[in-house]
Amino acid sequence: MSEDLKRKAAEMAVADVKSGMRLGLGTGSTAKHFVDLLGQRVADGLDVICVPTSEVTAAQAKSLNIPLSDLDTLDRLDLTVDGADELDEHLNLIKGGGGALLREKIVAAASDAMIVIADGTKRVEMLGRFPLPIEVNRFGLGATRRSVEEVLKAHGAEGGLKLRGEDKGQVFVTDGGHLILDAFFGRISQPEVLSNDLLNIPGVVQHGLFLNMCRKAYVATPDGVVVIETGN
Ligand code: A5P
Repeated sequence: MSEDLKRKAAEMAVADVKSGMRLGLGTGSTAKHFVDLLGQRVADGLDVICVPTSEVTAAQAKSLNIPLSDLDTLDRLDLTVDGADELDEHLNLIKGGGGALLREKIVAAASDAMIVIADGTKRVEMLGRFPLPIEVNRFGLGATRRSVEEVLKAHGAEGGLKLRGEDKGQVFVTDGGHLILDAFFGRISQPEVLSNDLLNIPGVVQHGLFLNMCRKAYVATPDGVVVIETGN
């Protein structure tokens, strides 16, 4: 059911792709459907050049003969299509559940537009129910962790911090060789302030709050795909 909905959102986004576009390819189970459908259009003659946001997406795109490039070669992208872990009514997002947030944010920031594709379960009134992924350098992890804990406290977090994978005995390492701290806020009432507070910690590489980056989302529900657009 959920895979059907993800596919439907991806179908809407792939219909927005035009020949000649330079595209950012997201990461995750919803973005996977988009890449799959894009591969079908490329096989039918669509001319696009794409920058993947993870090694996993790169491998999928290669297997579908989707032409790939990078942000050293291309200065700007026309559009990035990606999934999200949460989206609010302003299309502010939490991303990084799949661990690709750094490349996802670099690619989205280099794009003239970002479309999010998701099923209805990702829509929230206030961000924070999904644990916020915070990508950190391995060096000085203890010090970084303590500083992030102070930020959590200052922002009234309902839960604590978890080093991703630690409980399973295998710490998760990102494509960039960094680690992820998942922060359990419950509610994020001041996302801009939180973003700045986190980025002020030297060991924090990036975090999964995507603020004012996305203007359009296709959210698939059992009653149909809802289009959300913001003007700002
Ligand atoms: C990857 O790091 C994430 O930002 C994903 O885009 C996000 O977790 C959504 O993934 P799903 O589409 O698998 O829910």
